[in-house]
Amino acid sequence: MRARARVYRDAFTAACTEAGTQVDVYYAGKAFLSVAVARWMTQEGLRIDTASLGELTTALRAGVAPGDIGLHGNNKSDAEIDLALRSGIGRIVLDSLPEVARVAEAAAALGVRAPVMVRVTTGVHAGGHEYISTAHEDQKFGLSLAAPDGEDSPATAAVLAVLARPELELLGLHSHIGSQILDPAGFGVAARAVMTLRAEIARRTGVLVPELDLGGGFGVAYLPGDVPLDPERAAKEMVAALADAGRELDQPLPRLSIEPGRSIVGPAGVTLYTVGTVKPVRTDDGSVRTYVAVDGGMSDNIRPALYGADYHAEIVSRASDAAPTRCRVVGKHCESGDIVVHDVALPGDVAAGDLLAVAVTGAYGRSMASTYNLVPRPGVVAVSGGVATPIVRRESVEDLLALDLG
Ligand code: LLP
Repeated sequence: MRARARVYRDAFTAACTEAGTQVDVYYAGKAFLSVAVARWMTQEGLRIDTASLGELTTALRAGVAPGDIGLHGNNKSDAEIDLALRSGIGRIVLDSLPEVARVAEAAAALGVRAPVMVRVTTGVHAGGHEYISTAHEDQKFGLSLAAPDGEDSPATAAVLAVLARPELELLGLHSHIGSQILDPAGFGVAARAVMTLRAEIARRTGVLVPELDLGGGFGVAYLPGDVPLDPERAAKEMVAALADAGRELDQPLPRLSIEPGRSIVGPAGVTLYTVGTVKPVRTDDGSVRTYVAVDGGMSDNIRPALYGADYHAEIVSRASDAAPTRCRVVGKHCESGDIVVHDVALPGDVAAGDLLAVAVTGAYGRSMASTYNLVPRPGVVAVSGGVATPIVRRESVEDLLALDLG
């Protein structure tokens, strides 16, 4: 995880230095955050992006300098805004017009000036293997750049509202176009769209917005043979798009920031399960598939059920010469959709007690875990140089019952 953090930091620093600007890399804690993770990321020179009171409190508890923390959210609570302002975090990313007033009023009440960014919706929707451009995005995040009938776009209106409030300091404009992006072209389209808004703001108000954040979304390889997005290529594409747009719009380059989550922690994480029941099942086409049940499932990795996500698994506790057999790895929950790996070849002698490792589960696995069926969530163990250190304690049934008021 630390090595991957360095790769992103170095790739973007190199591309930005060459272009004559600077970059901050924020680790998106939603992918997986703990006190140890926040500490490692800051030790590697990354900042921390949070999106809830829990993530923000974890980053602060880890001793991350408040100025190096950002707060996101389309529906921030009063408690989140209050903690962000009281602790003096580096930036609050505003997501709606009412939030401009809410944060300004909260800052006024505390007698502070709130550093803010405005999140814009560029109309670029990216994710998976391609990006498609849509004129209007029917989704909950950010403020649209689309201007109906010559009126100000919601994004422009929000930026003007921020500039009108002395309690707010406009640090930048923010765009996040999607997740698990494998084609960097969408980042370039988004960069250009945000640069165009920056030029409009400069023309109308004389204010040159200092920073652009182009979000996270850098895709990883989940299966053997998948090709991940190359961070150096992504960095070059983003910076080239900013530089091109800057030349065309006669604007200096802004400072850049990005927010990778999955690409930092995803490939660093492996889930270890113990095999339990092994059951041959006849499929609709008459062939046999072996169902290999493990001691977890959709409660520790909801991604196959939620997104149809594919993973790779291997038996890691022993070598086997048995011929491979067609398997489906399933969990222990009361749903037939509780699938961990849809289709994988495992040794034909796979049996109860074997340890099964599922790769690339570091992002959005433990962080989206539930206690469905009152199955306690697994712990997290960090491994470095052959030394294993627990960083999140395994939950117990007693932990779950401690919340039950009887
Ligand atoms: N910045 C913002 C504003 C975001 O909304 C996200 C992810 C990120 C950064 C980090 O994106 P990443 O680099 O991790 O792709 N649960 C889904 C992914 C949801 C991503 C939500 N936002 C999954 O498991 O695929």
